[in-house]
Amino acid sequence: MDSRTKINKLIDCVSTCEAEEYLSLLKELNFSTADFLEYINFSQEKYTRSCVAKGDDFELILLCWEKGQKAPIHGHDGSEGWIYVVQGNFEEKRYIENPKTKRLNQKFKVRIGEKEICYTSTNKNEFHSIQNLNDGRSISLHLYKCPIEKCKVFDEKAGEMIERNLKYDFKNEAVFL
Ligand SMILES: [Fe+2]
Repeated sequence: MDSRTKINKLIDCVSTCEAEEYLSLLKELNFSTADFLEYINFSQEKYTRSCVAKGDDFELILLCWEKGQKAPIHGHDGSEGWIYVVQGNFEEKRYIENPKTKRLNQKFKVRIGEKEICYTSTNKNEFHSIQNLNDGRSISLHLYKCPIEKCKVFDEKAGEMIERNLKYDFKNEAVFL
């Protein structure tokens, strides 16, 4: 099956199937770097977000990470999501916010290897950070069941969570379904 057909199969299933079905399809499609060549964009400044497809009720994004690059602690605004590691490996640290004190407590940290899938929480009090731990570049595919327009991000200087609008670093208008 060619790359375009594989990506389209996943998109069709996400729009019409239950989570169980598109997750097993995601595993079955066995995506690799070669499937996303037109969406791969690296930057020395920060990890990049390239939109692969976006519909009213889902979003598929490819993230490209240079060695050591990291996403600061952030939330997903309650959207359900899965991360599939296309290449390399990552460390995820998960935090819970105390609703009263607003302090973040680390819940766990986990290593996510190539072709593994990590589920991101729908709990608005849960946050995570992700870092590329590979001795080289890594690539991850992020599937969100609701497009995420804005999210809370931990601002190191302010020492608190700040709401930010999210944008793509790269997008092709044809991806908007
Ligand atoms: Fe995230």
